[in-house]
Amino acid sequence: MSEIKVERLTKRFNETAALDAVSLDFAAGSFTALLGPSGCGKTTMLRLIAGFEAPSQGRVLFGDELMADPQRQVPPEARGVGVVFQSYALWPHMDVAENVAYPLKARHVKRGEIAGRVGAVLDIVGLNGFESRRIEELSGGQRQRVALARCLVADAKIILFDEPLANLDMHLRSSMVDAFRDIHRRTGATIVYVTHDQAEALALADRVAIMSRGKVLQAAAPQEVYRAPANATVAGIVGRGSIVGGTVIDHAEETATVDIAGHRLVARSAGTSAGPVKILLRPEALRISPEGMPATVLDSVYRGPVHEVRLALPMPGRGPGPGPGQELLIDSTEAVAVGQSVNVAVSDAWIIPGA
Ligand SMILES: Nc1ncnc2c1ncn2[C@@H]1O[C@H](COP(=O)(O)OP(=O)(O)OP(=O)(O)O)[C@@H](O)[C@H]1O
Ligand SMILES: [Mg+2]
Repeated sequence: MSEIKVERLTKRFNETAALDAVSLDFAAGSFTALLGPSGCGKTTMLRLIAGFEAPSQGRVLFGDELMADPQRQVPPEARGVGVVFQSYALWPHMDVAENVAYPLKARHVKRGEIAGRVGAVLDIVGLNGFESRRIEELSGGQRQRVALARCLVADAKIILFDEPLANLDMHLRSSMVDAFRDIHRRTGATIVYVTHDQAEALALADRVAIMSRGKVLQAAAPQEVYRAPANATVAGIVGRGSIVGGTVIDHAEETATVDIAGHRLVARSAGTSAGPVKILLRPEALRISPEGMPATVLDSVYRGPVHEVRLALPMPGRGPGPGPGQELLIDSTEAVAVGQSVNVAVSDAWIIPGA
């Protein structure tokens, strides 16, 4: 049974559709990341699921139960959803334990039970011993964890996160990513997690939904979204890589022989026919080698362990050399000189469907 189901969900603000007829199921206990550029509708989707916003069209269901359609809405407090936003809205005049206990007090849970449950969630977020600290005596990451604990204490079956790590530095972000994974394992809650950060999305979620302009373009396992993006927009949002033009010479069900700038190679495909196609080449599948696709070095930037190298492919009908032609991005362990001629071995390629 799907815990959350959105059916042709549309939200219009004036003329613009912030969410445009989106249908998506969230299985019970799943962890879905919503990933996409600013303004694509991620927060709007969360607000509709939580009940802070009413649909213009379509429906939201939890299991078989209708939560919202354009006529009727179950109010947010009756949905039993936990929500953690980027701005974590803690009460500065209360200490950590009081902040976390707040949702239980509001529900008149017995005092003795409250202490036990607050202790248990502070344990999960690694804040044991911080019970009587005031909020202003905490770091940003610790405050974020208090907000998380306050959400967890209510024991919601559905938890929604809107960029919960956006205010934190790199180091804290990665330790919080571990905390989220742990929370998902322990609570078994159905989680929807909004982020701009694709590394975070790929690391955390068992499914990534790529959004653009109010639509979900692809919802699939992280590896699949990375290896087999459904279209050029998804390929542009997830991971680095180059999209180059080529021609299908010969094809089977899941692979095809393609010609890229006069060089032949085998690419994965979701079924294609002969003719022009767009092909995605990830940097890690490309290597400078004695044989392979001829190319010319346009640019090279050292980025830690590797040099990120931009290469120009030869133009059809012209010799190799830089020009307004196609480019490739590769990671090279060795430095290369601008203008140098190289060959590139290709170990993996993906024909972008419908491009
Ligand atoms: N209350 C509102 N009134 C008018 N327009 C709105 C409102 N809320 C959102 N929008 C518009 O709807 C679109 C989607 O907004 P939303 O906040 O869902 O984007 P987002 O994907 O969360 O972006 P970001 O990553 O920047 O947070 C945007 O064009 C936004 O300007
Ligand atoms: Mg947002």
